Amino acid sequence: MKRYAIMTMKGGTGKTTTAVNVAHGLSLSGQKVLLIDCDPQRNAAVTFGVESEKGLAALLMTGDVDILQVRDNCFLIDSGGRNLLEVELILGRQEKREYRLQKALMHLKGCDYVICDCPPSMNLINVNVLAFCDKIFIPIAMDYLSQVGAEQTMKVIDEIKWLTQKDSIDFHILPTFYDSRTRISREVLVQIREWFGDKVFKTVIRINTALREAPGDNKTIYEHAPLSRGAFDYYKLTEEILSMSEKV
Ligand SMILES: Nc1ncnc2c1ncn2[C@@H]1O[C@H](COP(=O)(O)OP(=O)(O)OP(=O)(O)O)[C@@H](O)[C@H]1O
Ligand SMILES: [Mg+2]
Repeated sequence: MKRYAIMTMKGGTGKTTTAVNVAHGLSLSGQKVLLIDCDPQRNAAVTFGVESEKGLAALLMTGDVDILQVRDNCFLIDSGGRNLLEVELILGRQEKREYRLQKALMHLKGCDYVICDCPPSMNLINVNVLAFCDKIFIPIAMDYLSQVGAEQTMKVIDEIKWLTQKDSIDFHILPTFYDSRTRISREVLVQIREWFGDKVFKTVIRINTALREAPGDNKTIYEHAPLSRGAFDYYKLTEEILSMSEKV
């Protein structure tokens, strides 16, 4: 079972879009996927138009959870919305609080991939996700990010290593919101590749209106606009992730 977190401290960089479309992409390739919505905003659950009282918050507190089937081979755990914020406060007072998710999912079987869609903050839930996952995918938007943004990302990775007490954490950077017409996008991409080398996905997610529209329709990009650039980019990313998994 591969366990991936889609995480960065910066808001609106395409985390949920990536989590949803990678999860569905992998399941369309015949993999069995569990998507965990770890964000009180519940954007991943909302995209699939589902809701459950027994979400991640309940799982962490009581061990009881609803695993909702959202597509063939694709399952989702809702975040629990605001309850997740309360859990954070309660967990904060307990021992081994950073390993609660790992413990809760210890007996999870029959799943090829677990994908965690994370909130843009460094909270206890994200620390739990990091302790549980073996790879982190960090989407970085190419529209507003400059040198400063790349530096921030390095800092975040250091923080993550420190928080999880893992010396090496396998991270991969995903360029998102790429617009080839703008100089800034092109320059930032060159720079990100220079800085992070083969830690950057070959696939680049371009700006695409269909990607913005799909969640409003409760659809993934493959359903909403299967011939769009967005669908093409996420098909490609799915392929890259699949081939990456084969190498391990
Ligand atoms: N490549 C893209 N082109 C155009 N719009 C996009 C693209 N990727 C995501 N979006 C849109 O941009 C907005 C932010 O994306 P998304 O919700 O995936 O980011 P996020 O990192 O999960 O945000 P948050 O930090 O709030 O959780 C959404 O409206 C989404 O539909
Ligand atoms: Mg999100």
